[in-house]
Amino acid sequence: MSRTKLESFPKVSLTFGPSPIHRLDRLSEHLGGDVEIWAKREDVNSALAYGGNKTRKLEYLAADALEQGCDTLVSIGGVQSNHTRQVAAVSAHLGLKCVLVQEHWVDWNEVNYEKTGNILLSRIMGADVRLNAAGFDIGFRKSWEDALAEVIANGGKPYAIPAGASDHALGGHGFAGWAFEVEDQEKALGFTFDNIIVCSVTGSTQGGMIAGFAHSNRAQSVLGIDASATVEKTWEQIKRIASRTAEAIELGRPLDDSEIVLLDRWHDDIYGIASEHTIEAIRLLGRTEGVIVDPVYEGKSMAALIDLIKEGYFPKGSKVLYAHLGGQPAINGYTTAFDK
Ligand SMILES: Cc1ncc(COP(=O)(O)O)c(C=O)c1O
Repeated sequence: MSRTKLESFPKVSLTFGPSPIHRLDRLSEHLGGDVEIWAKREDVNSALAYGGNKTRKLEYLAADALEQGCDTLVSIGGVQSNHTRQVAAVSAHLGLKCVLVQEHWVDWNEVNYEKTGNILLSRIMGADVRLNAAGFDIGFRKSWEDALAEVIANGGKPYAIPAGASDHALGGHGFAGWAFEVEDQEKALGFTFDNIIVCSVTGSTQGGMIAGFAHSNRAQSVLGIDASATVEKTWEQIKRIASRTAEAIELGRPLDDSEIVLLDRWHDDIYGIASEHTIEAIRLLGRTEGVIVDPVYEGKSMAALIDLIKEGYFPKGSKVLYAHLGGQPAINGYTTAFDK
């Protein structure tokens, strides 16, 4: 059975345990009251530097790094990557060194973009932060391979963590566990969510969820909201990671393409920059609920949720779970997006 198999993989505890689920009553009311919106809060899942979805994935990768006797975590992301900030936090927590390649994934010319938010936090936590001019790509990068080779040349033992901790044998495990955790929480709540909304870029958050929920044949209810604007690449990566994870946790059947749902209307045509529409969704959530989401990821999936409700996509009485994956520190690099 999938869940028992997942539990057999080594894991270091980096989170508080199950992340909380709660209702967003005022937003639900504001949108007509026909759909109950709930949120599961990965943004408050850990004591480590604001947590987030990567912290949950890293519970498996960090265990592997420790088991292999590695002394340096090496990873990659954009300048305002939430992922690299979480790798820096996990490294500090476990007493490991940390090398981060931060690429120029976003053309956002705010004065402090390379100094504030996530990158500032990574520097505070002692990571060796290296800025690199390369543009957005979720694939493997030479700069990252060079950083790994350099650690080895200096006598260290690196552990390679790809962008988003995604395209890795253990990348999907954390969110397969998330799916089982939701099912436990549903039992306690006494109902099942009809749909789950999740933002996707490097793919292992949704990929893991699909592998987990597939064991009860409800992977299609996970609506991925693309924020990469390289939709085909992200879809392929979700499929690859979901299939790999499903096999690792012994789902016992191949995944069907119909189980990988990635909606492409909310990426604002570019990774890392929000349209006015996304900014309005961020403001609406903030005003009605006092909950904060960012312009790169969660604002886009929130805009999708709001639009889908307004369009009548969910039948009356539906209960929809919004996966809040974190990411708020990046807002400090996007102050001008809120000028108007
Ligand atoms: C806050 C936030 N939301 C969503 C995502 C997307 O998750 P994934 O890369 O696993 O698709 C990320 C990271 O890329 C993120 O930092």
